[in-house]
Amino acid sequence: MKELTPKQIVTRLDKYIIGQDRAKKSVAIALRNRWRRQHVTDDLREEIMPNNIIMIGPTGVGKTEIARRLAKLAGAPFIKIEASKFTEVGYVGRDVESIIRDLVDLGVSMVRAEKTEEVRIKAEELAVDRLLDVLLPPIKPPKNKSDEEESENEELYQKMQRTREKLKKQLEDGKLDDRTVELEVPSENFPLMQVISPIGIEEMGLNIQEIFGPMLPQKTKKRKMTIPEAKQHLIQEESQKLIDMEAVIKEAIERVENSGIVFLDEIDKISGDNGSQGPDVSRAGVQRDLLPVVEGTNVLTKYGMVKTDHILFIASGAFHVSKPSDLIPELQGRFPIRVELNSLTTEDFVRILTEPENALIKQYKALMDTEGVIIDFSKDSIWEIARTASEVNEKAENIGARRLHTIMTTLLEDFLFEVPESKIDSIKITQQIVRERLKEIVEDEDLSRYIL
Ligand SMILES: Nc1ncnc2c1ncn2[C@@H]1O[C@H](COP(=O)(O)OP(=O)(O)OP(=O)(O)O)[C@@H](O)[C@H]1O
Ligand SMILES: [Mg+2]
Repeated sequence: MKELTPKQIVTRLDKYIIGQDRAKKSVAIALRNRWRRQHVTDDLREEIMPNNIIMIGPTGVGKTEIARRLAKLAGAPFIKIEASKFTEVGYVGRDVESIIRDLVDLGVSMVRAEKTEEVRIKAEELAVDRLLDVLLPPIKPPKNKSDEEESENEELYQKMQRTREKLKKQLEDGKLDDRTVELEVPSENFPLMQVISPIGIEEMGLNIQEIFGPMLPQKTKKRKMTIPEAKQHLIQEESQKLIDMEAVIKEAIERVENSGIVFLDEIDKISGDNGSQGPDVSRAGVQRDLLPVVEGTNVLTKYGMVKTDHILFIASGAFHVSKPSDLIPELQGRFPIRVELNSLTTEDFVRILTEPENALIKQYKALMDTEGVIIDFSKDSIWEIARTASEVNEKAENIGARRLHTIMTTLLEDFLFEVPESKIDSIKITQQIVRERLKEIVEDEDLSRYIL
């Protein structure tokens, strides 16, 4: 995996996130520091604290987006969870260690997908061979018998080979796609097993099926499917055989331990203990449970022990009511970096609408393009959209850049509905159109509360 420098990380984040420079800088440093920490001598490494971060800022300004993009560009297993989902160990709800178990599951699928990609060509060859065997059951190559018999067999064999080649060609050209074949597929596993599996084991992330599965006789049944379906099925089976799951698991655990990222959303919801709220489980309790996981501990997962020492934790919250200083001191200590994200301005909205690689305007253009319609936004129309978003955020509730989504869908609703029957091939959105379509809704506070 390539290791990006902090500056490179920021440059990549810039492609998706507008503004929030301080936050980008902090996460870039944190990511790089983890790598640095792994390269210092053993005894000192233990002394260096992980660079966990708390991002503080109003809703919809890019907190989750930054973390998500960061994980993507690091090629790291990434999980986002709401801190408020957790309850203290022993209570009904999820315990914090399940975060790590989920992260490992993700890591395993990630590595498995990569390995599958690596063996794809080979698996496809094998699958085609097997498919041909089904279509044209092979005969054995001739053995040494009497001369006469041999030459006869030889001839037959050669003929079969030729037919096979022809079939293979037809298969490749998709000429057999309408035909169906019958394949042996593993039949559904015993439903009985689920009924008797004790809940405790499920909780551990262990699955009876996976433990005892291989010991149970594998039942198969015949299923009819089309040739393309059969091919997909066989490719899957073959790639499963080609992939060494043990190696996959080993690599996945390594990757989770060394580059995993956990995004703890809504951390503010577990700060400030209001035990008075009836059945609400002590928030400080959840924080205390989080401590060892954030600090570095071993978590038992169904794939084995996972060390959490180097996992990067990024917490985030609006902290409207509570403050980071309301978190228990030990947990505060584990998140030494604080970074505030700014509210977004109208200028930011304009840029968010147009600049990121996944910018909304680009998305709608691409959507319309599939219908053969060119949709164009004039400069002042984009400003008008941005301005409207700011206005509604002020009047109703500030939901940040999410407002752009609702505004855009409202603005474009009719166009999206009328295409393709309307037979127009280009749409020009002007400031005038934006005003016309949104004015009434924006001015009516009740309406805007419901629609925008
Ligand atoms: N600074 C930004 N640059 C580009 N797009 C942004 C920015 N901020 C928000 N967005 C867009 O708005 C959406 C919501 O942002 P995001 O999920 O990051 O909000 P958040 O800060 O995590 O809010 P919350 O506190 O509600 O979780 C994103 O999908 C993204 O498309
Ligand atoms: Mg978020």
